[in-house]
Amino acid sequence: MSSIDIARESVAREALRYVRDGYVVGVGTGSTAMVFLRELHRSIINGAISNVLLVPTSTETEIEIVRLGLADLLRYPWQVDHIDIAIDGADEVDRKKNLIKGGGAALTREKVIDYWAREFVVIVDESKVFDSIPSKHPIPIEVIPFAWSIIKARLKELGGTAELRFGGGKRGPIVTDNGNYIIDYMPGTVTNIEDLERVIKEMPGVVEVGVFSGRRVSRVIIGRADGSVITMD
Ligand code: 5RP
Repeated sequence: MSSIDIARESVAREALRYVRDGYVVGVGTGSTAMVFLRELHRSIINGAISNVLLVPTSTETEIEIVRLGLADLLRYPWQVDHIDIAIDGADEVDRKKNLIKGGGAALTREKVIDYWAREFVVIVDESKVFDSIPSKHPIPIEVIPFAWSIIKARLKELGGTAELRFGGGKRGPIVTDNGNYIIDYMPGTVTNIEDLERVIKEMPGVVEVGVFSGRRVSRVIIGRADGSVITMD
């Protein structure tokens, strides 16, 4: 098993400690969130956790819930009146628990569910922790297709680079679960990531910005290669 796999399993198991019987659980998107979902599945099967409901943050997660045989537990946001806990991955985390998310293009549904949850727990391996963000990963921005070129130009005026996201086994730009495009924006210098988020969010045609405020994050569980975990509360 690779060191990343070891770290992912450790954080997934640690996150399970916060899930109680009867909880409505928001299930994140991405490879780390999928490890958590499989651990949760194991706990449901062996009876360690019961009566939970699962609200997915993407089509990827929804399909995995069904594939694991948990379709009876699947709920959409309009079928529940609250979410007790959301467990999700991230592309980057800083020391104030601010996040960059959206590497899997699921940032809008993730933000809806993660911010709605009473408790929002982030699970990452130690390679995702940086002194300032964005560091290696650009900020994903979901935009309506009609506005992509205008928003791209406006982002470049702010400084840095902005690219429409292509790839993923499809010709042309990738299309999100909401039928939109993604622009990956790497700013020049960032003095305040929350101010930057606000400025981008105000651009007409922007649906959501992949900056998640540390104030909305209950805790970040960081996994190390040796299987140990650190929790930032
Ligand atoms: C998807 C996300 C993911 O949580 C993020 O990309 C981390 O994914 P992984 O655990 O595969 O590294 O924000 O939109």
